[in-house]
Amino acid sequence: MPRSQPARPPATPLSDGVVTLRARRVSDADAVVAASHDAETQRWLEDDPLEPLADDTARQAAVERAEDAWLTGRAAPLIVADAVTDEPVGLVNLQFRDDRTATIAYSVFPAHRGRGVAPRAVELVTPWARADLGVEVLLLEADAENVASIRVAEKCGFTPVDEVVSTDADGRERRTKVFRQTRPAQEAKARGDVELTEPGRPSSR
Ligand SMILES: CC(C)(COP(=O)(O)OP(=O)(O)OC[C@H]1O[C@@H](n2cnc3c(N)ncnc32)[C@H](O)[C@@H]1OP(=O)(O)O)[C@@H](O)C(=O)NCCC(=O)NCCS
Repeated sequence: MPRSQPARPPATPLSDGVVTLRARRVSDADAVVAASHDAETQRWLEDDPLEPLADDTARQAAVERAEDAWLTGRAAPLIVADAVTDEPVGLVNLQFRDDRTATIAYSVFPAHRGRGVAPRAVELVTPWARADLGVEVLLLEADAENVASIRVAEKCGFTPVDEVVSTDADGRERRTKVFRQTRPAQEAKARGDVELTEPGRPSSR
């Protein structure tokens, strides 16, 4: 279930001087399509490969789909850009379960992995989600074999709270680790007040 209210992108892009999180632009569209064909992304995320975009009308439509996710309170898809060049280097997304609970998902474009981009994006978006969107519970779902994503979760203060076993479309067993971000200030307030449900596969779009 989405939020009861629309969500709005940050008025000023969120930045730590190395990466910037901002709303999607027409100029990002081709990079998002190219990255959607990456095998690792397809392996771990519910993000099908995207068709090439024929022209700016198609690129604009892609931007409008992202805007629609914000307006309907379904999700908060943000571009992770290089803070200096503004080049898109990844995606971070909050998928809202309700007004106080969101699941975070991310992908970093292949050429930019292994340099701490995803942890930077998570550390920018999570305090903003708490302060500006009123999110109280931040969850992260990662396949138990997705070592890189689990490292990002650990580095960003997420602790494991559950493991869910499911069967995917090919009949293979999948173990999904569910993490929750616990920060000292929120820990006491938030402990034990989340109802865990069967996870879907996360989407960074
Ligand atoms: C998971 C992912 C977002 C991590 O992003 P990142 O910016 O590379 O994150 P980091 O640089 O902090 O690296 C995280 C871990 O990845 C591994 N790693 C290091 N270099 C790497 C490289 N060149 N390529 C891939 N993974 C690498 C290491 O285990 C690292 O942990 P460490 O810092 O303790 O050594 C990225 O690998 C990705 O986009 N994967 C495909 C999509 C995906 O799995 N999304 C998460 C779904 S839950």
